Amino acid sequence: MEKQWIKTSSKKQEGYPLWIGQDLTEKIIQREITESQETTGWVLVTDQNIQRIYQQKIQDLEAGAKNKSLPFLTLVIPPGESSKSLQKVEELAGVIAGKDFGRKTKILALGGGVVGDLAGFLASIYMRGVEYVQIPTTLLAQVDSSIGGKTGVNLFEGKNLLGSFYPPCSVWIDEDFLTTLEIKDWVNGYGELLKHGVLKDEGLFKAIEDQLDQNRTFNRISEAPAELTAIILRGITVKKEIIEADEKEQGLRKLLNYGHTFGHALEALYQYEGCSHGEAVLKGMVYEAEIAVCLGLLNNEDFSRIRNLIDGILKRGRDLPSPTKNIEDLIGFMKRDKKNRGNEISFILPEKIGKTREVFLKEEDLRRIFFKRKF
Ligand SMILES: NC(=O)c1ccc[n+]([C@@H]2O[C@H](COP(=O)([O-])OP(=O)(O)OC[C@H]3O[C@@H](n4cnc5c(N)ncnc54)[C@H](O)[C@@H]3O)[C@@H](O)[C@H]2O)c1
Repeated sequence: MEKQWIKTSSKKQEGYPLWIGQDLTEKIIQREITESQETTGWVLVTDQNIQRIYQQKIQDLEAGAKNKSLPFLTLVIPPGESSKSLQKVEELAGVIAGKDFGRKTKILALGGGVVGDLAGFLASIYMRGVEYVQIPTTLLAQVDSSIGGKTGVNLFEGKNLLGSFYPPCSVWIDEDFLTTLEIKDWVNGYGELLKHGVLKDEGLFKAIEDQLDQNRTFNRISEAPAELTAIILRGITVKKEIIEADEKEQGLRKLLNYGHTFGHALEALYQYEGCSHGEAVLKGMVYEAEIAVCLGLLNNEDFSRIRNLIDGILKRGRDLPSPTKNIEDLIGFMKRDKKNRGNEISFILPEKIGKTREVFLKEEDLRRIFFKRKF
């Protein structure tokens, strides 16, 4: 097991530990339950899939609290993006309050990015803030969403429009969870890893290219655990360096949104059902790289590498609908993006693999690029 430290400038804490390894349940029980002196009760938030697959782990965590004669409540949400809603936050908060969980409650977020974002947001506003622990179970959540303290829920009008910056008290990356992931969730996770490569780490991008060339991606943890750990660690390092330099997204952190202006619009267009977050971001990264080529920012060679790698990863997943006929709807969603400046839409565009920058585009420029490149 390896330990890292994520620095945060928030007044709440100076930083929080991130643990990475395999078979970490005993350690989680010891550190977050047995040795947790001030906590008066635990609320575990998870989804139905995790509850079904990891019932034993949940029971073990619960037994840890029972040994201390303190309350432990498991709240299970339906899987999927539709659970990331204000209505769900209110529903969960109502149950916790009804059972008299107070300010010294610790929330355990056991799940993918949906559980992490929802439970983190709940923790940030329940009784004006209680502690929470991230136990991410998808590759995407392990290399991205559990790190950095961004929490939130969606509105019909767009993704993550309600949320907070609220760092967890610790993050536990247990690679054992990855053994049960479906292919689409490997695709999602590789999307974020590849994004981190384009942002800041050409070597990470190359490592994924090599894996894909040799058909070694996805679900190979039992065959090549060290290789997967190395890639996960590289992905985490990129995210960690960016969020430590810019916790509240004043500048550098915006770069993490590469692929997301398009990606969030696609997700909203398909009402969070037709394509997952990771798939949408992968598509978004190709479209945004095309925009970079059109603007003369990115050369064709790097564009081809990005497109080929993304196509190779998406090919292992499922077919996604083409957005071509919905350009105006897409622009409509992009106009609501939080990062926009006046009526200019913000894009993070690659200048080369390993370097990106923010560019603002007017609606009419975007429309012209769409038609020129025949998206
Ligand atoms: N807060 C952030 O900084 C940040 C960053 C990136 C993405 N996100 C958010 O993360 C969310 C996407 O996260 P996600 O891709 O993890 O989706 P998810 O949480 O919906 O999980 C995907 C699916 O995998 C299942 N699952 C989870 N762990 C599993 C396991 N170990 N074995 C088998 N099945 C498992 C879930 O039940 C679900 O069906 C989006 O809402 C996105 O906005 C947040």
